[in-house]
Amino acid sequence: MTSATPRLKLINVSKTFPGVQAVKSVSLEAYSQQILALVGENGAGKSTLMNIINGVVQPDSGSIMLDGVEVRIDSPRRAQSLGITMIHQELALIPELTVGQNMFLGREPSRGGWIDWNELYRQTQQVLDRLGIAISARAKIAELSIAEQQLVEIARALSYQARLIALDEPTSSLTDRETEILFRLVRQLRAEGVALIYISHRMEEIFALADRIAVMRDGELITAGPASEFTPQRVVQLMVGRELQPSASQPAQPRGEPILRATNLVAGKAVRGVSLTLHRGEIVGMAGLVGAGRTNVARLLFGADRLDQGEIWFEGKPVSIRSPRDAIRLGIGLVTEDRKAQGLFLKQSVRNNAGAGLLERLSRFGFVNFRALTQQVSDLTTRLRVRTPSLNQQVRNLSGGNQQKVIIARWLALQPKVLILDEPTRGVDVGAKADIHALIRELAAQGMAILMISSELPEILAVSDRILVMREGRITAELNRAEATQDRIMQAAVGQE
Ligand SMILES: Nc1ncnc2c1ncn2[C@@H]1O[C@H](COP(=O)(O)OP(=O)(O)OP(=O)(O)O)[C@@H](O)[C@H]1O
Ligand SMILES: [Mg+2]
Repeated sequence: MTSATPRLKLINVSKTFPGVQAVKSVSLEAYSQQILALVGENGAGKSTLMNIINGVVQPDSGSIMLDGVEVRIDSPRRAQSLGITMIHQELALIPELTVGQNMFLGREPSRGGWIDWNELYRQTQQVLDRLGIAISARAKIAELSIAEQQLVEIARALSYQARLIALDEPTSSLTDRETEILFRLVRQLRAEGVALIYISHRMEEIFALADRIAVMRDGELITAGPASEFTPQRVVQLMVGRELQPSASQPAQPRGEPILRATNLVAGKAVRGVSLTLHRGEIVGMAGLVGAGRTNVARLLFGADRLDQGEIWFEGKPVSIRSPRDAIRLGIGLVTEDRKAQGLFLKQSVRNNAGAGLLERLSRFGFVNFRALTQQVSDLTTRLRVRTPSLNQQVRNLSGGNQQKVIIARWLALQPKVLILDEPTRGVDVGAKADIHALIRELAAQGMAILMISSELPEILAVSDRILVMREGRITAELNRAEATQDRIMQAAVGQE
């Protein structure tokens, strides 16, 4: 099939940002009726390459051919008119508008000079229905879960007549069922003749979908070829350029005294009577399907949501946690799953973002001890292998996975007694994931109590000393490390105990 003219052909495309050469003379082809998986570590240049194809970023040099014709893609609008669509890593919907308004933004159907709302919602619903997405066209984006928002974004992208669709980590917040819907769509589009480029850090997905695989490292294209010529191990090795130590599970640590205890927490319909205890030095994994109420529990413990009922004890004393400030004062930290909404200061430096919680501690008479701040932040960013040209770099210029690491660094800087991590390795590459797991274990060994929410069962099993499974607002199983298996967790999560 590779004898046909490629749908997309990149020739020696390069892009340099201040301090980083993000893409180095990349030549790559994508074909109609094929799925090309693009893989590489955090910061390898995958999103930048896709932004070039989508007209968001202008290359410094090189050329782009579309169906054998050289094109200049100088804006996303131009990309769209060429039939190139991109589903971004970070959601780009407008929360105050409805699904339909977002879907047809800038191309609303009109009649007699007025927007034809009925027609807009009818067409939107048609797209959603065709894709098997059970969301109302009139729902407000802000009212949808992240996963639902992602599906809307995908639906919007698919509502254009696309010749080439690039998906940048589309499944990072989808449930298994939603992922299946997406896979079905992607395969359907492939059959219809679309060329697809699929970016993911998940090897199972890559091998389930890809016809071809391209590996990037440090801005360069290392190799590209038929998927059948690769194995997951080989791909990982090519990505990181070194052999990776498997994150071996360690013997369970002896757990310390209880530090945080919650009894019968209730909040609306999301949390319906949850009791749990976290001990010093213990890693508790929280499994469950998206929507089971895990994030809600985290938010209650952190004072981000209001309790209807229930009590929380901290270090043996009843406490009332009415706001995140209260939680932080007690020594409770929360790394939330939604990195955009959780207050990365995008235009500020890595130093200020990672050190945000330290400013007060390192200030005297209004002056910040800049050296101490730099020192502490750089220790953490080194430990987490944050890839940035300097600590002065604006956070918005970091790759997605590296932004996630900056958030983790910020919380670690505060040295909380209890750290809650909600999907901590989402969007993080395989190498960095192993680093974060090792770090979580190290923190627990130093006495921190950790509650880790994750939808990835291998992650839960690799890291947790004890596992809680939630379903429909309740804890449906508590398993210790020895008795936990993927099957048992899944059964408790879907309710077939
Ligand atoms: N606008 C920008 N200004 C400066 N540097 C940038 C900009 N955009 C990206 N970079 C840098 O270019 C490099 C490649 O980033 P890119 O986002 O393409 O990585 P990625 O492969 O998509 O990583 P991830 O898996 O974490 O999403 C990184 O070092 C990043 O910090
Ligand atoms: Mg990216």
